[in-house]
Amino acid sequence: MAKVITFGVQKGGVGKTLTSGITAFLLAQRGYKVLAVDMDSQGNLTQFISGSDDLYDFQEQTVLEAIKEGDARPYIKAMDDHLHLLPADDFLATIAQYLFREYSGNPSLALDSALSSVKDFYDYIIIDTPPALSEQTINALGASTHVVIMFETSKFCYSAIPRFLDTIEAAKSKINPDLQIAGILRTLADAKRTDSKAMIELIEEEYSELVFDTVIHRRATTGRLPVYGLWENKEANQAFSYHKKFLRELIGRVGKPEKV
Ligand SMILES: Nc1ncnc2c1ncn2[C@@H]1O[C@H](COP(=O)(O)OP(=O)(O)O)[C@@H](O)[C@H]1O
Ligand SMILES: [Mg+2]
Repeated sequence: MAKVITFGVQKGGVGKTLTSGITAFLLAQRGYKVLAVDMDSQGNLTQFISGSDDLYDFQEQTVLEAIKEGDARPYIKAMDDHLHLLPADDFLATIAQYLFREYSGNPSLALDSALSSVKDFYDYIIIDTPPALSEQTINALGASTHVVIMFETSKFCYSAIPRFLDTIEAAKSKINPDLQIAGILRTLADAKRTDSKAMIELIEEEYSELVFDTVIHRRATTGRLPVYGLWENKEANQAFSYHKKFLRELIGRVGKPEKV
């Protein structure tokens, strides 16, 4: 069974898409079978992993259709032998309407149900989420074994964490008792700024049992990844260095998939 890992927090611009995309890419490079699932109607993970800016390429071939059909398989695109993608486009924004008006099962477990046919096939399933505590996020939590809480080292993100933790607790008690917090990942840290340093320390004091040791710093080569892409990127070594450290910690915490 795949380890299913959601990257989330209800704030935007904190590195959810970049970090989930790089994590999926690096896991696939290590030889694991990986499915990246885009649960944000902005489709940024879809663009990042496919290398295509044109979401029309995926029209009516997305995670929304997978949920409606109750099966992800027809909508998964192979990027190479190891990395596969379940894309999203703008229409994913209509999902709440569909789930509450037409869906016959538990609306919070619709993604879980669509992924159930492929969980045995993949080692890791990585889910990117939108900047909101929306149905997409609840469904991502409902389908996951683990969640990585993204923490951009800023005041606004600091105030977002308790509510996200509450949402995780609610998901655990109502829909997915097996859900575990993999940890809090500090991102976009800026060594030159005292406020960023203060936030790094504050979160460490307050959530010492949850934070990952790795802090992902702001770095130009990482920030440029959406421009030059994940594939055949000449700056890849520099761009991925913090994420490689994070990945070792993440695998240590969530474990490797059991081979059957
Ligand atoms: N470690 C980093 N260093 C520099 N820029 C980064 C880093 N992580 C993310 N970014 C940039 O920050 C912006 C927001 O990242 P993104 O992953 O889209 O956030 P989210 O998905 O949370 O909205 C993007 O332009 C991205 O390229
Ligand atoms: Mg995003």
